[in-house]
Amino acid sequence: MKVSIDAERCQGHGRCFSLAPGLFDFDDLGNGVVIGDGVLSDETLELARLAQANCPEHAIFIEE
Ligand code: F3S
Repeated sequence: MKVSIDAERCQGHGRCFSLAPGLFDFDDLGNGVVIGDGVLSDETLELARLAQANCPEHAIFIEE
């Protein structure tokens, strides 16, 4: 499982890095970015799903 952010959709709402600061960070424009390679463990999958559910732009994707 791997998480990613679609940079074209992200509008910098910041819920991803607020909810899951271990998984997401923000860039110079305040847009969300995935930390590292985005590969998820069972624990981080739950956080990624939480962030995904809270992103108003539906910019977070989780690949099986
Ligand atoms: Fe962007 Fe959504 Fe996070 S808009 S900053 S990916 S909450």
